[in-house]
Amino acid sequence: MNHSISLTVNGARRDVVLDDPRVTLLDLLRERLHLTGTKKGCDRGQCGACTILVDGKRINSCLALAISHDGADILTIEGLARGDQLHPVQAAFIAHDGFQCGFCTPGQIMSAVGMMREAQAGNDPERIRECMSGNLCRCGAYAGIVGAVLDAQGQMDESNQRRSA
Ligand code: FES
Ligand code: FES
Repeated sequence: MNHSISLTVNGARRDVVLDDPRVTLLDLLRERLHLTGTKKGCDRGQCGACTILVDGKRINSCLALAISHDGADILTIEGLARGDQLHPVQAAFIAHDGFQCGFCTPGQIMSAVGMMREAQAGNDPERIRECMSGNLCRCGAYAGIVGAVLDAQGQMDESNQRRSA
């Protein structure tokens, strides 16, 4: 039996017919919507490569059934930049060498953006490590990743302060 769902993906409405209710959000994004920036690592919730934001919260999309998220607002790595202008976390990953092979990077970046929105870690490197611990990096780029998150967090704090001044 087919199931129709409607999602907002990176600001655009996407109507999809699922022929299998077991399709995950990850497979829907990659295989049906051709948004391959979100990576499939373990496919069992252990590596964080598939992290996206759903209704503003970070989740492992390999563990999420698409059918359970009818009507959801989804942000993937493809929706983060504004035209040519990178999101501060993306720019900071480049500036701090936050990646080597890059396979974990979309998930790391989405997780960092989600963490900042949750206002969980502030500027404490230990808390950032803890809050990002669901995102594994086989290349071991953790030092650059934490540096990038700290830098982006600082920049975003500053711009929020300027806006409210
Ligand atoms: S692919 Fe989803 S957590 Fe590893
Ligand atoms: S940069 Fe290669 S897995 Fe993280």
